[in-house]
Amino acid sequence: MSLDRLAFPSGVAVGASILSADFARLGDEITASLRAGAGFVHVDVMDGHFVPNLSMGPAVCAAVRRAAPRAPVDVHLMVQRPLAFIEPFAKAGADWCTVHIEAQDDPRECAERSRSLGMKAGLAFNPRTPIEHALDAGLLEAADFVLIMSVQPGYSGQAFMPEVLDKARLLRRAGWQGPIEIDGGVSPSNAQACRAAGCTLLVSASAIFGSGDYAAAVGGMLA
Ligand code: DX5
Ligand code: ZN
Repeated sequence: MSLDRLAFPSGVAVGASILSADFARLGDEITASLRAGAGFVHVDVMDGHFVPNLSMGPAVCAAVRRAAPRAPVDVHLMVQRPLAFIEPFAKAGADWCTVHIEAQDDPRECAERSRSLGMKAGLAFNPRTPIEHALDAGLLEAADFVLIMSVQPGYSGQAFMPEVLDKARLLRRAGWQGPIEIDGGVSPSNAQACRAAGCTLLVSASAIFGSGDYAAAVGGMLA
């Protein structure tokens, strides 16, 4: 199967967030999640400042790339100063790269840097950050996709916040046609509501890697 890693899935896809994977068996975990039907691999990058946790850097991203040579690698930068890290992740094989609108660097500049390095550019919104201002300011024109956080970023395994789906509905009403990624607490029990609100990229860590049956978990989010 040939897969354009830069093309977004035409319909809805599930992204396997490796934050809940068994890191001692990371390559096997990635392979198993893709075999189970995940359409891309989500890599959470945390700096201990933007969020109160540390996670992975470019070396892990490069390992993910090796384990998943054909699947899109989706890097989610939960860091205070993302601009300096965009190129290292591009070199490590990332295909999609998301920065937060709450971070310190200019989101347009970040998106331009990602695109100039051949990646798709995402713009993320924390649960309590409204989306109207970014829409009004034309900030989304610089983005290839939008990421809506459905938990406070920092940890996997938290409860889904259904109220954030209003942002997806608002984006669709405003005419946003690009992908909308939803991240945090996504599971078979709320995936249908996410899709109905207009989300197309469903990121999940604990509902996949914490389950005994990855295919049932992924399939349950696509059903
Ligand atoms: C949270 C991360 C998420 C997280 C999702 O800060 O951005 O990608 O890994 O984990 P679950 O699906 O367990 O909420
Ligand atoms: Zn994430």
